[in-house]
Amino acid sequence: MAAAPGPTYLIADTVADRAPDLAIVRRLAGYLRRRRGVAAACVGLVLLSSAAVTAGPWLLGRAIDHGVVAGDRHLLVELALLMLAVQGVSTAAAVGEGILFAILGQGVLHDLRQDLFARVQSLPTPFFDRNPVGRLVTRLTNDIAALGELFAPSVVSVAVDVGVIVAVSVALFFLDSWLAATAFLLFPVLVLVTVYFGHRIRTVFRDVKGRLARINAGLGELIPGMRVVQLFGREQGEGDRFTELNGAYRDAQLRGVRYNAILHPLVQVCAGGTVAALLVLGGWRVHAGVITVGTLVAILTYTQHLFQPVRGLIEKYNLFQTAMASAERIFLLLDEPPEAGWGEGAEGLGGDRPAPTDTAAGVAEGDHGAAALPARLRGEIRFRDVHLTYDGGVTALSGLDFAVAPGEVVALVGPTGAGKSTVASLLLRLFEPTAGTIEVDGRPLTAYPKGFLRRRIGLIGQEVFLFDATLRENLCLFRPVAEARLQEAIRQVGLQEVVARLPDGLEARVGERGGRLSLGERQLIAFVRFLLYDPDILVLDEATASIDRTTERTIQRALEVAAQGRTTLIIAHRLETVRHADRVVVLAAGRKVKEGEPAQLLGG
Ligand SMILES: Nc1ncnc2c1ncn2[C@@H]1O[C@H](COP(=O)(O)OP(=O)(O)OP(=O)(O)O)[C@@H](O)[C@H]1O
Ligand SMILES: [Mg+2]
Repeated sequence: MAAAPGPTYLIADTVADRAPDLAIVRRLAGYLRRRRGVAAACVGLVLLSSAAVTAGPWLLGRAIDHGVVAGDRHLLVELALLMLAVQGVSTAAAVGEGILFAILGQGVLHDLRQDLFARVQSLPTPFFDRNPVGRLVTRLTNDIAALGELFAPSVVSVAVDVGVIVAVSVALFFLDSWLAATAFLLFPVLVLVTVYFGHRIRTVFRDVKGRLARINAGLGELIPGMRVVQLFGREQGEGDRFTELNGAYRDAQLRGVRYNAILHPLVQVCAGGTVAALLVLGGWRVHAGVITVGTLVAILTYTQHLFQPVRGLIEKYNLFQTAMASAERIFLLLDEPPEAGWGEGAEGLGGDRPAPTDTAAGVAEGDHGAAALPARLRGEIRFRDVHLTYDGGVTALSGLDFAVAPGEVVALVGPTGAGKSTVASLLLRLFEPTAGTIEVDGRPLTAYPKGFLRRRIGLIGQEVFLFDATLRENLCLFRPVAEARLQEAIRQVGLQEVVARLPDGLEARVGERGGRLSLGERQLIAFVRFLLYDPDILVLDEATASIDRTTERTIQRALEVAAQGRTTLIIAHRLETVRHADRVVVLAAGRKVKEGEPAQLLGG
């Protein structure tokens, strides 16, 4: 489970078939160590209940020999009361175990979920291009739940079972080593069977998890895309695709169930055989006067206590295998390298994305870059021979050169696929250029921590993502913003009519992904967000496409407000929409093909 060198960007749904159990267990133990106190209390309770379970049959044996056979009534009552007391202790311990193990388990799961989410938040853009939402959500929910079964109350008994097996073994050998040896005669068979099936079950459950992730990934895509499916009458096709995934999942589950079904009866056969052998052998030894009847009864009871936990352990071994398969996948995601470049100069860990803070800047303080960082950017942008080939092999930029002076409004125009949005992504360091340099204020982009860049350069993208929250929360992005400032920004952008039209105004919920708002309204929301954020450079990607004349005029005014005093890069398809720009750079196939004033280019 060593961390892969460099970004991998890819979560495998199934993991190579090896058994790194020890490494996984060690990492899980690390999480347990954070909750030492509770873990120690759990161990104490397990010891207590093992001792109680061991005391029971021993007292029973004494009661039979001295109380029943020898006829000591007084002792009989005493021993019976003692057995009752032992039962009381054992019950109390079981209650404590149930609660404490749950606290421990849920704590570990909570920490894991927390770490996973923090990791997901720190991953670079290409990672999300590669990994479907459903797959990630499966890892955060389902895999954690499977791991949770390891700590579920029913599995508390694993620890108790181990304790009981050890304690009972000691007691058995103490009572009669011959019979004890007989009780263990079939153990090697059990171990072999368990190991044989365990390996298979684990493989099957890895498969099960992988297939579940695929179902979730499919649903995660299909449900948001349901409109397209219904509009194009693709229900049958998508239904078939789902049926296939669903069937594969069911088959994988059934394979696992089959192994479990065989395993159980096998244990029972072993238990039955052992008890029969003990009865015969023990009976002979009682006749021969080597042991008492009470001892035989105690030994037979112990043997029952022996196979019960073994059966339990095997059952839990399966859960353990499932949990291991999940843990493996969880750690794989945890090992995904976070986005680098957050505090330049401090390579490795120091360069990783910092823990999220309330300040929007998120600039790592104390690194050498930060000391020299200006409060604001002047806004000079220069692309020098920039190339970018995406992961998939598509070359979006091939030798792009252009510059923007501070305060200038430059339009980037070109056909679809020319690489315009790519320029915006590069400027915000969502991707890194394959070759060439990008400079802002005369310094290469890599000299700025990413947090600083993204704070100082505001992007209004082609798609405006809205959260399923109120309009206010979407405008302020869940930060506290002074009411006057918010109202001012709304007025500047021209969103007040939209707010007035909504039944609950600013407190209206906008629906998942802003489904209840029009495209133009969403664009205006993006402008308000931008003004509240107040960065130094505005990058606007195609805000005016697919919008009516009135909205276009509103957006145009919003743009003028937003562009005031800021270097502005407007990305558009057509020259007509960017007449007001100071200069136009025409892009085609990832290169600059023309440059000049709008009027000049429109005329020529
Ligand atoms: N994340 C990505 N991964 C792989 N390829 C990408 C990615 N984003 C864009 N591309 C590819 O890079 C090329 C340039 O894309 P880009 O989005 O920059 O074009 P654009 O000029 O903004 O187009 P449009 O006008 O349609 O928005 C396209 O061929 C596109 O398929
Ligand atoms: Mg684009």
